[in-house]
Amino acid sequence: MGPPEGVSRLEWLRHRRWLGKISRGAERRGPWWAEILSGVALSYPGCCYVEVGVALGSTINVVAPCCREVHGCDVSEAHALPRGARFWHMNSDDFFARYDGAAPQLVFIDGGHTYDQVKRDYENAARILAPGGTIALHATSGRQRYDSRPGRRAADTPEVSRP
Ligand SMILES: C[S@@+](CC[C@H](N)C(=O)[O-])C[C@H]1O[C@@H](n2cnc3c(N)ncnc32)[C@H](O)[C@@H]1O
Repeated sequence: MGPPEGVSRLEWLRHRRWLGKISRGAERRGPWWAEILSGVALSYPGCCYVEVGVALGSTINVVAPCCREVHGCDVSEAHALPRGARFWHMNSDDFFARYDGAAPQLVFIDGGHTYDQVKRDYENAARILAPGGTIALHATSGRQRYDSRPGRRAADTPEVSRP
């Protein structure tokens, strides 16, 4: 099976390689973050899940079956969203400003990786979060591989190391 329309072959191959990697040796590597998020989602009855930055959907597709309501946001087009999920095709600032779903019990922030963007996403997520909810942050190591400019695909963005 080839890449979906709008996804470059390179991006698709990276995605397939990643899925292959996480599906091998689960007993040695410990839980993958999507499995941890699924466990957190299951701890909330009828969980509402928000993912900022869904890319090719590898995480949202794992977590969604554990939730009653699912929202995904990305500046790029979505390709393989779980059935019933609502996709918000816009940047996360606009998403949080317009959000009209249930108060989420779990928010996964994995969109634009600049410090300022992540800080805003965190503050906005905290504003809409249900009482006792959880905010998860990805890629906190300081390496920036994705940027926040609308229309830029993840595979086009440069990898920038911390100076
Ligand atoms: C690391 S990928 C997301 C991976 C996905 N969460 C997963 O686990 O499979 C980052 C995504 O964030 C998107 N993105 C970058 N800046 C954004 C922003 N300001 N608002 C929303 N999405 C953004 C990119 O288009 C890219 O698809």
